[in-house]
Amino acid sequence: MLKQKVVDALNKQIELEHFSSQLYLAMASWAETNGFEASGNFLYEHSDEERQHMLKLFRFVNDRGAHAIVPQSDQPKITYESIRAIYSEILEHEIMISNAISELVGVCIDERDFTTQNFLQWYVAEQIEEESLFRTVLDKLNLLGNDKASLFMFEKEIELMTNAMKESE
Ligand code: FEO
Repeated sequence: MLKQKVVDALNKQIELEHFSSQLYLAMASWAETNGFEASGNFLYEHSDEERQHMLKLFRFVNDRGAHAIVPQSDQPKITYESIRAIYSEILEHEIMISNAISELVGVCIDERDFTTQNFLQWYVAEQIEEESLFRTVLDKLNLLGNDKASLFMFEKEIELMTNAMKESE
């Protein structure tokens, strides 16, 4: 049986993963309607991934005899300054999520819940990948620059990354 502090911390993480999914969906919608179709597709994919992160926690909480809570959702921002602003914000958001996972692991250690701590190792590894992915995207943007031809090339790169992501699913 999970301890209440662990359940509360897991439900808080469910809320964060849910918000990430909604945030990336809002960003996908902005990208798609502002001429960044490839980024739109990439962000739709990523929004789906965040929902999977949320569901994996959700099922774990219920499988362990506690009650996963469907979170209330704040509306994410709907307009963005640029595609660069979107990817910068995502990297900052993912760093915040990594810190939240570390806090959650900390709660499990304090409560001596080593089963949940072990389950969360998947998220620890996933966060390293997510941060690295978005650093790579930002590096590509910085390397290419801001003019229209560069952004066109950037979108081609994002399309390749999305296809690779789909193939590895
Ligand atoms: Fe579920 Fe992008 O962290």
